[in-house]
Amino acid sequence: NEGALWGGRFAAGPAEAMAALSKSTHFDWALAPYDIRASKAHARVLHKAGLLSDAELAGMQDGLDRLATDVASGAFAAAESDEDVHGALERGLIDRVGPELGGRLRAGRSRNDQVATLFRMWLRDAARRVGAGVLDVVDALVAQAAAHPDVVMAGKTHLQSAQPVLLAHQLLAHAHPLLRDLDRLRDFDKRAAISPYGSGALAGSSLGLDPEAIAADLGFDAAAANSIDATSARDFAAEAAFVFAMIAVDLSRLAEEVIIWSTPEFGYVTLADAWSTGSSIMPQKKNPDVAELTRGKTGRLIGNLTGLLATLKAQPLAYNRDLQEDKEPVFDSVAQLELLLPALAGLVATLTFHPQRMAELAPAGYTLATDIAEWLVRQGVPFRDAHEAAGACVRLAESRGVGLAELTDGEFAAIDLALSAEVREVLTVEGSIASRNARGGTAGVQVAKQLDEVRQAVTEA
Ligand code: ARG
Repeated sequence: NEGALWGGRFAAGPAEAMAALSKSTHFDWALAPYDIRASKAHARVLHKAGLLSDAELAGMQDGLDRLATDVASGAFAAAESDEDVHGALERGLIDRVGPELGGRLRAGRSRNDQVATLFRMWLRDAARRVGAGVLDVVDALVAQAAAHPDVVMAGKTHLQSAQPVLLAHQLLAHAHPLLRDLDRLRDFDKRAAISPYGSGALAGSSLGLDPEAIAADLGFDAAAANSIDATSARDFAAEAAFVFAMIAVDLSRLAEEVIIWSTPEFGYVTLADAWSTGSSIMPQKKNPDVAELTRGKTGRLIGNLTGLLATLKAQPLAYNRDLQEDKEPVFDSVAQLELLLPALAGLVATLTFHPQRMAELAPAGYTLATDIAEWLVRQGVPFRDAHEAAGACVRLAESRGVGLAELTDGEFAAIDLALSAEVREVLTVEGSIASRNARGGTAGVQVAKQLDEVRQAVTEA
């Protein structure tokens, strides 16, 4: 079994199906640049501990640099005989510096502390890339909100028309969860920034190596406090998978609205040609595929999270080979987000809204009924009675097939004597919106303030 990292106690190599099952190079190759970086740091720690001479350290660094170049160019790749990326890279190092020197690098480390460290390094970088993509979607939402300060629409609950709101308010309602996701990514990084390197297989190293030195060298905040925990825990990976799934869920909620808004029945938005697709049979179709793929891939990201949690749930301490299953779901979540985020940002940035149509529908479905009730409260009527009276207005208007504002003064007064003609001042969409003027409300001044806050948060993110 040439090139294997183990074999001394084995008389025969692995069976073909055993090797096929065991192999991970087709996905853990993503860790190769991190593996080499960490090997260079490990060599420095071996040198500091007196286990490598100055010349040996220099030879090792040079060999690792050449290996990194060959990995980057593709000149060095995994071979059929390689079990995982770690074994393959040791083979590559030995090819370059010979077995005498190359065989010294592995002292005091195990693939168990190695893979736990490299996965953290990979994820910390990936989380930053994902965060940048999320920020692009937030930017697109902010730009659309800023471009439509006065556009009104019917806000919905239960997908039924509820109360008039500003479009900018609705768009920013999608920006806030994404900003919280960015905060989650930053928070995740605090826990990911702990280095398992030096934990060895599970019990730590006996060779006088300095885990804090290598942690600092690799950009971690500290070395792990417990080598058993450090080599076996994958909550950092599950946490990242959760934040990625949460981002997808938040994007999917936005996507769902774009899908609904782009139907002819709503007619709120037109999608840009570049961000929609046609039908192979129906010539008139313009489909919101970006939004639908966002919704669809979200199921996949939720699956990646739940699959990983299931993998982790019954493992005894410390490392078990089950843990090799930790990487693919997380890699996949990142790959899917890297496809989704730029497409969704492009879709949102290029939406054409139809303010006329949105304004037309804003009062439909009696969205001003709450305003009647609240106007009555301001006249001293108990809300319970005001709600009844406003409901009676809706019933009457509905039976006559008219809007609330078209009820006559006499009809209002017949429903409740308190309903004088002055109630008409709240029976406009603009009046209703302007009246919701407390912090977080949909009044123009409040939404403008909110836009400033979101912009501020974007610059700090
Ligand atoms: N490839 C493994 C993983 O991804 C690391 C190797 C640990 N193997 C072992 N026999 N201890 O988790």
